[in-house]
Amino acid sequence: MIGFIASITEKKKHIDNYLQQSFNSLNTSILKESSDYSTNSESKRLRAILILSVIESSGLDWKKYIDLASSIEYLQTATLIHDDLPCMDNSDIRRGKASNHKKFNESVSVLTGDFLFSYTFYNILRESKKLNLSDSIIVKINTILFNALNRIINGQTEEFHNKSNNISPDKIIEITKDKTASFIEACLKTGGVISSLDASQLKLLSEFGINFGIAFQITDDIIDIIGLKEKEGKNEGTDLKNHICTLPGKIGIDKSLVILKEKISSALDTLNQLNIKKDILKGLLIFATESRLKNYNINI
Ligand code: IPE
Ligand code: IPE
Ligand code: MG
Ligand code: MG
Repeated sequence: MIGFIASITEKKKHIDNYLQQSFNSLNTSILKESSDYSTNSESKRLRAILILSVIESSGLDWKKYIDLASSIEYLQTATLIHDDLPCMDNSDIRRGKASNHKKFNESVSVLTGDFLFSYTFYNILRESKKLNLSDSIIVKINTILFNALNRIINGQTEEFHNKSNNISPDKIIEITKDKTASFIEACLKTGGVISSLDASQLKLLSEFGINFGIAFQITDDIIDIIGLKEKEGKNEGTDLKNHICTLPGKIGIDKSLVILKEKISSALDTLNQLNIKKDILKGLLIFATESRLKNYNINI
């Protein structure tokens, strides 16, 4: 466990350092200030760490890929800025600070999100070229990430379209696959493509990522019910307030914990079939789910 913590702490430090100098080349403007404000606030950097962890677990030198992997955090930040808007979750705290539209205003937040979506792909291309990745790998990475972004947007749209509707637990999980799991899956596959893993290994990484992502969102939705904003750095209780359908909201916390355990166990089964090192990816899965719930004395 100590080895795992040291490994993700080191990765996070490098990712944070890269992101801190992200917008230096932009002209001073409210867009620069707003992008920097939300990007460089306290985050787990889970998605960039996932990319680097697959690379490390495949036996490559992950440090070479810090800049490329860190770029994915612009996309993560953009989704959160838009998610917090008054027309969406209407959250006024994010990452322990005033959310973007509270610090600036709604127009700036919409445009900062738009800018960061575009900046993600611009930067991934730029960093891929610096690494001399082949055109084929660059096309694969961009295809994976564009697909994930389409699915995130679709998931968010379905979630808001179904607000207050009596949708089934299966439908909620389908939405979760799009809005959250597709992104986790895409980061793992990006690491896999960079590491030249074959199609069967990429398929296993996808399966692992989908179950990881669903488990991560169920954890987040349980914490939205029982969590403390001081601990999480964001508003809790927003799903109920906004009539958003979540698994624990629909079937209760206890039954959700049963499904959460099943998803973690399926993810671990898939991980065991992979031909790469497993300890860091297993550690990340537990860190993103079980360990977060332990903070609230829930042991699964
Ligand atoms: C928040 O993601 C959005 C969800 C999918 C639950 P994270 O919990 O990874 O957010 P940061 O990046 O650490 O702020
Ligand atoms: C975050 O989802 C946005 C995306 C997954 C795109 P949530 O609304 O469930 O996450 P938090 O609780 O605000 O971080
Ligand atoms: Mg939301
Ligand atoms: Mg939200």
